[in-house]
Amino acid sequence: MWTQAILLVVLVCLLGLHFLNPFQARKKYPPGPPVHLVAVKFIQARFRIHPDMFAETAKEYGNIYTVWVGSTPVVILSGFHAMKEGLIKHSEVFSGRPVTPFYQAIVNEKGIVFSNGHTWKQQRKFGIATMQKLGMGKESVQSQIEDEARQLMETFARTKGQPTDPSLPIFNSLCNVICALVFGHRYSVDDEEFLKLLDAMEYNMKFGGTFFHLMYEVLPGLMKHIRWPYKAVFNAVDVVLSHAMKETEAHRAQLAVHDPRDFIDYYLLQMEKSKNDPTSTYDDANLFQCISDLFTGGTDTTSATLQWALLLMVTHPDIQEKVQKELEDAFGSSQNISYQDRKKVPYTFAVIHEIQRFKCILLTGNPRLCMQDVTILGAFIPKGTMVVPDVHSVIYDPEIWETPRMFNPNHFLDQDGKFVNREEFLIFGAGARACPGKAMAMMELFTFFTTLLRAFTFKLPEGVTEVSSEPVKGLTISPGPYKLCAIPCFSDS
Ligand code: HEM
Repeated sequence: MWTQAILLVVLVCLLGLHFLNPFQARKKYPPGPPVHLVAVKFIQARFRIHPDMFAETAKEYGNIYTVWVGSTPVVILSGFHAMKEGLIKHSEVFSGRPVTPFYQAIVNEKGIVFSNGHTWKQQRKFGIATMQKLGMGKESVQSQIEDEARQLMETFARTKGQPTDPSLPIFNSLCNVICALVFGHRYSVDDEEFLKLLDAMEYNMKFGGTFFHLMYEVLPGLMKHIRWPYKAVFNAVDVVLSHAMKETEAHRAQLAVHDPRDFIDYYLLQMEKSKNDPTSTYDDANLFQCISDLFTGGTDTTSATLQWALLLMVTHPDIQEKVQKELEDAFGSSQNISYQDRKKVPYTFAVIHEIQRFKCILLTGNPRLCMQDVTILGAFIPKGTMVVPDVHSVIYDPEIWETPRMFNPNHFLDQDGKFVNREEFLIFGAGARACPGKAMAMMELFTFFTTLLRAFTFKLPEGVTEVSSEPVKGLTISPGPYKLCAIPCFSDS
C-alpha cells in the first residue's frame, strides 16, 4: 500500500519535471519513447536500471533515440554502427563524463572516472603511464597476479572438494592484486581493515542503480534533505577515502624517491615535481580519488567476471573439459603459464572472451557527456547531453553473433580454430575514455582462469542438478550466490 503510494508520487514527480521543459526544447533531441512509458518501465523494473529495458526501443525509434528521465534527456546509442560512429569516430566529442548529482556529491569531479577537462586528461595520462611503469602487461604485475592466483588455488584446495561459495575468496584475491599495485603490499584475508575496505567497496557498487540512487539523481534537491537512505553509502565512501589517506601518509613518511614501488609513490613524486606548475592537478584529493577509482574500476569488474567464469564451467562441463585438455596438451601439468602464452591456447582465450560477452557484467555502457553540438548518422545531439552506449544491443545482436543468447566460444574462433579478435567486443568501452585497465584485466582473467582449471575440475555439489544463473544487479552484474565443488585434478592440488 505504502509502496504503491510512494511509486505513484514518484511517477507524478517524473512526469511533472518532464513537462516543465518547453516542447520546443524537447523537440531538438532525437525522438524516443513517451515519458510515461519510460516511467512505467522504471517502475516495472522496481526502480532499478535493467539491461534489456529498452531492447525493443531501437526497432521503433532507430539506433539513436532519447529517453527522458524526468527533465533530463538521455540519448542512447544502440547497435555497433551507432556506437562506433559515436565513441570511436567522434571520440573527442563524446569524451566527457556526465557528473550526476549523486556522483557530484561523493566524487566532486576528482580522479579519473568522474572528472572532466584538464583534470581528467592529466590524471588519466598519469594513471596509464604509471600502470605501465609498474609493469602493467609486463612481468612485475604478472608475478603479483600469479601469486594471488596461487593463493586462491590454495584456498580452494583447503575446501577438499566440499561445496563452497567462491565469491568472497575471488573478490579478496582480485582486490589484493590492486592493493599490490596501489599500496605495494597485499593484505591477509583476516585483516580487519582489509575486510572493512572490501565491505565498503561492495556496498558502494551495489548501491549504484538502486531505487534511492536513482531518486537522488532525479530529485537531488529533495533527497539531499532526506539523509537516512544515504548514510550508509556516504560512510562507505569515507571508509575507502580514509584508507587511501592513511596509506598515503605512511608512504609519505618513507618515500622511496629513487625507487618508487607503487602507484602512491609515483603520485607523490609527481606532486613534488609539479609543485610550482600552476596548471598541475596533482594533489591529495585527486590522489585519493584515483586510488578509489582503481579499486572500484578494477575489483568488482574482474571479480564478477571470474565468478561467472566458474559458474559457466560448472554448467558447461564439456567446455571445461576442452579447456583442461588444451592446457594439458600445451603445457603439461607442471610448467608455469604466463599471459604471453595465450597464443598457444586459442580455445581457452576464446572461452574467456565468450564468458565476458555472454555474461556481460555491465548494466549499460558507461555514460558519456557530449562536449559540443554534433550530428551523427543524421541525428542531432546538443552539447551537454548525456549519452549512454547500449552495449547489450551489440553483444547480443543476432546480425553479429551466430548464437547470441548461447554460450558459444566459437564466436571468437575462425574455421581453423585460431583466436579472432572481434571489434564488436566492446565491453571495455571504446575511444578516448576506453578502460585503461583492459590489459591488466585480461592478464588477471587469463592467469586466474588457467591456474584454477589446471588444478581443479569444478562441479555442482552432490544432489544439485541446477544452479540459478540469475544475475544480481548493482553497478556491475554478478551471479547470485551459488556453491561449487573444486575437485583436485591431481592428488597434491
Ligand atoms: C573485466 C574487467 C573490466 C571491465 C569489463 C571494465 C570496463 C570498463 C568500462 C566499460 C569503462 C568505461 C569506458 C567508457 O566510458 O567507454 C571502464 C573505465 C575505467 N576502468 Fe575499467 N574495466 C575492467 C577492469 C578495470 C581494471 C582492472 C582497472 C584498473 C586497474 C580499470 C580501471 C578503469 C578506469 C580508471 C576507468 C575510467 C576511465 C576514464 O573515465 O577515462 N578497469 N572500464
